[in-house]
Amino acid sequence: VKPVWNMHVLSPADLHFVVSGASIQKASMQIISSLEEMRTASRCAHADSKRIVLVPTMGALHEGHLELIREARKLADYTIVSVFVNPTQFGPTEDFNAYPRDLEDDRRRVDALGCVDVIFAPDVGEMYPDGTSMTFVSVEKMAEHLCGASRENHFRGVGTVVTKLFNICRPDVAVFGLKDAQQYFLIRRLVFDLNIPTEIIGVPTVREEDGLARSSRNKYLTKEERRQAPVLSEALSSVRTEIQNGERLSRRLIQMLRTRLSSATLGRIDYTDIVQTKDFQPVEILESGETVVAAIAVYFGNARLIDNAIILVP
Ligand code: PAF
Repeated sequence: VKPVWNMHVLSPADLHFVVSGASIQKASMQIISSLEEMRTASRCAHADSKRIVLVPTMGALHEGHLELIREARKLADYTIVSVFVNPTQFGPTEDFNAYPRDLEDDRRRVDALGCVDVIFAPDVGEMYPDGTSMTFVSVEKMAEHLCGASRENHFRGVGTVVTKLFNICRPDVAVFGLKDAQQYFLIRRLVFDLNIPTEIIGVPTVREEDGLARSSRNKYLTKEERRQAPVLSEALSSVRTEIQNGERLSRRLIQMLRTRLSSATLGRIDYTDIVQTKDFQPVEILESGETVVAAIAVYFGNARLIDNAIILVP
C-alpha cells in the first residue's frame, strides 16, 4: 500500500489490501472505556513490537463491519475496534439520539470472530469532557459536495473524532469501508496533510444478495422500501457499464441515474453526482485514466441510504 497520497491515480488494487495468512485466535478480549487505559494498552502493544490496527465504528455492528474487522486482522497483530456514536458528526435534526446502540450485542459479535484484542467504547464525557470541542479538524474542498453538502459539519465531526481516536489508539493502520467513499478519501487526505503515521486501508462494500449495501440504517426501512432499495446499486452498475462503453459526459450519466432512481422508488433523491477522487469535486468530462466516484443518496422516509461505485475510466 502506498503510504503517500496519490493525487491522480488510485487504482482499485490500491484500495483493498489483503495479506493472506491464518487468523490468530485471541484468548480474551478486553473492553476498555477509559482513554488512559486505552493509551496504556496501545503503548504496551507497541512496546511488545506489535503492529496495531484500528477499526473505527459507531457500533450497531453488522456483517459489513465484521468484514472490516476480518480484513483488519490480516494487516496487523493487535486489533482495536472502537465503538463510539460521535455527537459532533450529527446535525441538530439528525438521528444521534435514535442511532441504534447495543454494546452487549456488538461485544458478542466481535468476540465470536475470536481475533480482536480490544473494544474501545468510551462514553461521550470521556471523549468530550466539557460536552464539545473548541478544536475541529476539517478537510477543505473534499467535504463541499455529496454528504458534505447535505450534512453540515458532518465531515468536520468525522475528521475530529478520527484524529482523536488516532491520538488515543496510535494505530499503525486503520480500516474504513468504501461504502462511505467520501469519508475514506477525506481521511486519507487528512493523514497525508497532518503527517499522521497511520496507513488508511479501504475495504469494499459488503452487500446483501440483491445488491443492497449493508448499513445500520437498513433496519429503518419498511418492507416496501426494502424491496425498492436495491435499485441504488443497480443504477450505479449501469453507470459503470456506460462508462466502460465509452460515455464520458457526466451530465448524461447523472441524468441516467436520476431517471432510474425516480422510476423505481418512492424514495427522495438527496444527491446523484460524479466526482474525482483527488478532491471530491464534480467532474464534467471523464478523462481516461482517472478514478471517479459515482455517488448517490436517497431518503426512504427518515432513512438516508448511500451507495457509490469507484470507477477507473478506461
Ligand atoms: O463510519 C463511521 O462509522 C464513522 O463515521 C466513524 C469513522 C466511526 C467516525 O465516527
